[in-house]
Amino acid sequence: MASHKRILVAEDDIATGQAWSELIASWGFAVEIAPDGARALELIDSFDPHILLLDLRLPKKNGLEVLAEMRERGLTIPTVMISGEGEIADAVQAIKLGAYDYLRKPVDPPHLRVLLGNLGAHLTATEENQRLRRRLARAGELGGLVGQSAPMRRVMTLIEQVAPSSASVVIAGESGTGKEVVARTIHELSSRRSGPYVAINCAALPETLMESELFGHERGSFTGADRRREGCFENADGGTLLLDEIGEMRPELQAKLLRVLEDGRIRRLGGSAEIAVDVRVLASTNRDLEAAIREGRFREDLYYRLNVFTIELPPLAERPDDVSMLAEHFLKSISPPEGKAVTGIEAEALELMKAYRWPGNVRQLRNVIERALIVTRGPLIGAVDLPADLRRGGGSGGVFEIRLGTSLDDVERELIKRTIEFAGGNKSRAAEILGVSLKTLYNRLDRYGGRDQPNS
Ligand SMILES: Nc1ncnc2c1ncn2[C@@H]1O[C@H](COP(=O)(O)OP(=O)(O)OP(=O)(O)O)[C@@H](O)[C@H]1O
Ligand SMILES: [Mg+2]
Repeated sequence: MASHKRILVAEDDIATGQAWSELIASWGFAVEIAPDGARALELIDSFDPHILLLDLRLPKKNGLEVLAEMRERGLTIPTVMISGEGEIADAVQAIKLGAYDYLRKPVDPPHLRVLLGNLGAHLTATEENQRLRRRLARAGELGGLVGQSAPMRRVMTLIEQVAPSSASVVIAGESGTGKEVVARTIHELSSRRSGPYVAINCAALPETLMESELFGHERGSFTGADRRREGCFENADGGTLLLDEIGEMRPELQAKLLRVLEDGRIRRLGGSAEIAVDVRVLASTNRDLEAAIREGRFREDLYYRLNVFTIELPPLAERPDDVSMLAEHFLKSISPPEGKAVTGIEAEALELMKAYRWPGNVRQLRNVIERALIVTRGPLIGAVDLPADLRRGGGSGGVFEIRLGTSLDDVERELIKRTIEFAGGNKSRAAEILGVSLKTLYNRLDRYGGRDQPNS
């Protein structure tokens, strides 16, 4: 199947180039070697490769210059950079210039093979598709993302830039700002879109299970492991893996994750075989990872590996220009109760929504619209259909009464529930107010059986 795909290897060391060329040809690709950057550019014209393997350090023109020239000429050949020790900064620069991924020397043949195989299978993205996407972005939509404010447009532009590569992206923002929507959009706009998209919440799982969830386990590797199981990395092979709430991952696991990202191989718990995987990793966080590094809770090296790009989602209160478009979007996408026709939102209600502080961000806005659709008499949603807190301008006193004779458990349950409401559904903020970690909050919610899906 791979036989008709042409691969150009730009490598100045003749022996290395020859060895690679033989290996890659044995996998069924047609291969040419370019010993320097200028020759690589010539061969790009005459050999017309589907995929380019480009050493960063080349005579005549180096890898970055070759990339820059390709870009100037409008050539979009998926390119895998090969970098040496200490060239990570240049490799990252290459990704910014449009390279698909980078591998560090010495390159691991099974890893390269998986990468080339997937890349070959995915080579279907068309120019037409890209034009269409750009048009949508101008209209205030990109993938599942809606918004027309200046900050949201910047986010959309950034997504379009990073999506085609395999670079890791850290998506930062308060709870409910749309981090998961952004992650999915990046996947959908990438050449991996036909591959799997897998998301895992690092805060929601007990620490003991997290590792097996990520890397899988062999039968009998721990009590209760009664059969072999593949982990998220294997499930996401050829696609994208979102590590949600990465800031909650414990340091030992962070170290293992870093190794997997560097090697492109995993080992199941209790297993000995190393399995090559080709996974693009996205990470989301609603806390300040740089602060976590200073406090010694997050590994700096992992941060640099993940943070090739950062996409920061501003709180909804900082982009009031998005409120009406989002409200309309939810109005259209949530079906109203049977027999009710709701056609729009009154100006007064819209003004209240624009002025509100939205502690739970877009998720809260969605909930407000959902609730309004139930209580409104239609056809327009009015100010009376909005929650009291919103009508008052968001200055709710937030008091609740405890009747003597109530158990401590019930008080705690009620306090947690009310605090989450008070924070507009923003669980991280609720945890902050209560003075506990997000993980503790999830644990308590689990105990009460009151946890909804993290992405609901
Ligand atoms: N720009 C947007 N356009 C359309 N829908 C959005 C947008 N931003 C958020 N949403 C919607 O808001 C809800 C919350 O979004 P999402 O789950 O992505 O937030 P999050 O940042 O991952 O929150 P958390 O940190 O709590 O996990 C979802 O229903 C999502 O579809
Ligand atoms: Mg999320």
